[in-house]
Amino acid sequence: MNNFIYTENLTKSYGNIKAIDNLDLQVERGEIFGFLGPNGAGKTTTIRVLTTLTRSDSGFASVDGFDVRTEPEKVKKVIGVVQQHLSLDRDLSIRENMEFHARIHHLESSKRKKRIAELLEYVELTEYADKMVDALSGGMKKKAAIVCSLLHEPKLLFLDEPTVGLDAQARRRLWDFMRRLNNDGTTIFLTTHYIEEAEVLCKRVGIMHHGHLITVGKPAELRKKLGAVAVETLVNNKETRCEFFQDRETANNYVQKLPNDSATVIIRDTNLEDVFIERTGEKVGDS
Ligand SMILES: Nc1ncnc2c1ncn2[C@@H]1O[C@H](COP(=O)(O)OP(=O)(O)OP(=O)(O)O)[C@@H](O)[C@H]1O
Ligand SMILES: [Mg+2]
Repeated sequence: MNNFIYTENLTKSYGNIKAIDNLDLQVERGEIFGFLGPNGAGKTTTIRVLTTLTRSDSGFASVDGFDVRTEPEKVKKVIGVVQQHLSLDRDLSIRENMEFHARIHHLESSKRKKRIAELLEYVELTEYADKMVDALSGGMKKKAAIVCSLLHEPKLLFLDEPTVGLDAQARRRLWDFMRRLNNDGTTIFLTTHYIEEAEVLCKRVGIMHHGHLITVGKPAELRKKLGAVAVETLVNNKETRCEFFQDRETANNYVQKLPNDSATVIIRDTNLEDVFIERTGEKVGDS
C-alpha cells in the first residue's frame, strides 16, 4: 500500500464540537505533507488520533497499513511525534532528554550512546549537548525536541506547528533540516499556520476548516485551480477585492478596463491564503 496514512470518514467530537468531521485523507510515502488551517480547525486532534494518543469516535485510520485503534503498538514503532507544546524536560540537558526518550523506546545502552551522538551531530548540537534545555535558543529547543523523536529511527514524523515562535532565520534553518530529513528517507506530516512554510516545504497540502478537509493537493495545482494570477483592488480606500485569472495577460486586460477610481491595484501570484479565503470566507489566522 502506497498510502502511508489513510483515513476514511474519521470523526472525533468533544461535546458538541466536531474536531474532526468525516475526514478522508491520504498521505504518500516519502512526501512532506502540510496540514493547514486556523486555530481550532482540528489539526492537532487529527495528529493525536493518527499517533494513537486519542481514540476517534468512528471511521477508520491506518498508518503504514496498521489500524490505529487495534494495532497501536505497531503504529508507534513506525512514527515519531513532536507535539505542539514542547515535550522536553527543561530541568535536564539535551543529552539527558535524549537518554530518557531512548529508554522509552527500549534502545539498548550500546546502541543508545551511538545513536544520540549521531543525531547530535546531525543537528549540529553536539557542543550544546550538556547544556540545560532552558539555556538554549527557541530554534535549538525545537531541533532538540525533533531529535528526541528520531531516536528509534521512525519512518514517519509528525510535527505539530514546528516553527511557531521562531524568527525568520531560525525558521529557515529548521526548513532546511526538515528537507534533509525528508531526503534521507523520512516522510513528514506537519501542521502549520504559515502559508509560506506550506508553499515552500510541502509536496502536497491539505486545508482544514472546522474539522473538514476543504481541499487537498500540490500547492501549485491549488493555486492554478483558483487562477494563478491575483488582482487586488482597493475600492474607495477601504474595501479590498480580489479577482483571479489564469495568466498575466488576462489579468492585465481586466485591469485596463477597471474604472479610473479603483485607486490601488496590485497584480501578484495567487497564494494558498487566497485558496483558503475563497473556500471559507475567512483568513487562516482567524479563529
Ligand atoms: N481535549 C479537548 N477537550 C475539549 N475540546 C477539545 C479538546 N481538544 C481539542 N478540542 C476542540 O476541538 C477543536 C479542534 O482543536 P485542535 O486542537 O485539533 O485544533 P488545531 O487545528 O490544532 O488548532 P491550533 O491551530 O490552535 O493548534 C477545537 O474547537 C478545540 O477547542
Ligand atoms: Mg493545534
